[in-house]
Amino acid sequence: MPNLSTRESWGTRLGLIFAVAGNAIGLGNFLRFPVQAAENGGGSFMIPYVIAFILIGIPLMWMEWGIGRLGGKHGHGSTPGMFSRLWNHPVAKYLGVLGLIIPFVVLIYYVFIESWTFAYSVFSLTGTFQEYMTQHKTEGSSELLLMKNFLQGYTGVENQAFFAGTTLAWSFLSVTLVANAWILYKGLSGGIEWFSKWALPMLFVFAIILVIRIFTLDAIPGSNGTVWQGLGYIWNPDLSRLGDVDVWLAAAGQIFFTLSLGMGSIHAYASYLKPKDDIALSGLATGITNEFAEIILGSCIAIPVAVLFFGLSETITIAQGGSFNLGFVSMSVIFNHIEYGQFFGFIWFFLLFFAGITSSVAMGLPIITFLKDEFQLSHKKAVSILVGLTVACVIPVVLYNRFGYLDELDFWAGTFMLVLFGAVETILFVWVFGIDKAWAEINQGAAMKIPKVFYFIMKYITPTFLIVLLGAWIYNSAWDILIYEKSAGGGSVNPENIGVVTAARVFIVGFILLFAYLIYLAWKQHAKKEVKS
Ligand code: ALA
Repeated sequence: MPNLSTRESWGTRLGLIFAVAGNAIGLGNFLRFPVQAAENGGGSFMIPYVIAFILIGIPLMWMEWGIGRLGGKHGHGSTPGMFSRLWNHPVAKYLGVLGLIIPFVVLIYYVFIESWTFAYSVFSLTGTFQEYMTQHKTEGSSELLLMKNFLQGYTGVENQAFFAGTTLAWSFLSVTLVANAWILYKGLSGGIEWFSKWALPMLFVFAIILVIRIFTLDAIPGSNGTVWQGLGYIWNPDLSRLGDVDVWLAAAGQIFFTLSLGMGSIHAYASYLKPKDDIALSGLATGITNEFAEIILGSCIAIPVAVLFFGLSETITIAQGGSFNLGFVSMSVIFNHIEYGQFFGFIWFFLLFFAGITSSVAMGLPIITFLKDEFQLSHKKAVSILVGLTVACVIPVVLYNRFGYLDELDFWAGTFMLVLFGAVETILFVWVFGIDKAWAEINQGAAMKIPKVFYFIMKYITPTFLIVLLGAWIYNSAWDILIYEKSAGGGSVNPENIGVVTAARVFIVGFILLFAYLIYLAWKQHAKKEVKS
């Protein structure tokens, strides 16, 4: 059985809130949110977004904290052990495999993107964008297209002499991996909590500086867009696309991703709480902090400044052209044109790097706690295994990025499975474990009274919403993607990519089987120990 006496704990309550908020606030807030909002009609996206936040985001946040703290009381920091506490059935622990493989699969492509943000912050400081422009700009060439080529060259999607292959991308990725490994190696309080306590405030300061700069920029000659028009696009309620299932799916998917729900990482963080620690207020506080970063800061940067420079319809086209166009491509063009752009570019990309790192370490934690709690491995060994696995599995992400490997992992692990896992845990917690016990668990040690309406929401609305969502997802896109009718990155499947796309799926299934086997071994060991004692 897991050893309770050797489990770590958080240093302070504030530190814990910083760490969980850091877990939530990530690339999703500043890169994914603006693209989702712009692509899905701005004001028409925000209505389902807010509804999903209230009916899925907040209840699931509390549930995941509750499940995590409950598991921690029994020495389990990962969902196989937690689920076996919710449902006394041999299958329960295997359902928990999702809470191990989802964060890991997301981690391996997330760190790659995180490393781009680091690279871009260095490129900003060293004037690499200008150098590239000078080399490649010809009469009438589009700067947006040039910077798109720059990104594709850097990330290996397109070969380009400027980068001479992906050596540079590998170097920044290595430094990013070392930074993650180091924080994880330093442990819960000495690493994750310590880092979040200064990275998060710094990130907010950087974001506020950028918002002020963006909202004080003069009109751009040749563009009739304004920052207010960009803000209005997101914030003016628009009911016209409320009947569009895709908008609802995108909004709910964003809620999951941005709050790190359905990933197993909140569970792992909460497992280190003490049994009487508050979760009601802390869970809500981290959810609200994340939303502040997302809808206040996240909506005041990439979209308004793009509208100012390029106009509204061009901004929507940019967003539709690819997930990284707003954050990387248009922002680097814009920084080339504003005074002290090198400095502002640096703080934008470095802010993203900080946001990314406080989230990626959280994605690494479930496997570490699993190995420590269920196999009694030392912290050092568990971190080394995770780092070794990550290094091995990130290689195909870089090599096959151009063939849709990353998009495929992102669709299954970073979108579809989050909702699947959310539905599974909700059913286990409120229906199998029982809503009354679940409610008592969440309210234990509560520093605020959770409104009783959430009892009803958690029991009926959240599970129904999640099941409908899952069904709609399967009907709308998952099935077509599965049978190669649609590509995970949008559009039709390029026949050349089928092999790589299939390999991404085999990788996910292989990992599920591997971890299911490890769960089997761990529980066999637990049973033997129980017989002995
Ligand atoms: N919640 C993390 C993000 O938004 C994963 O990036």
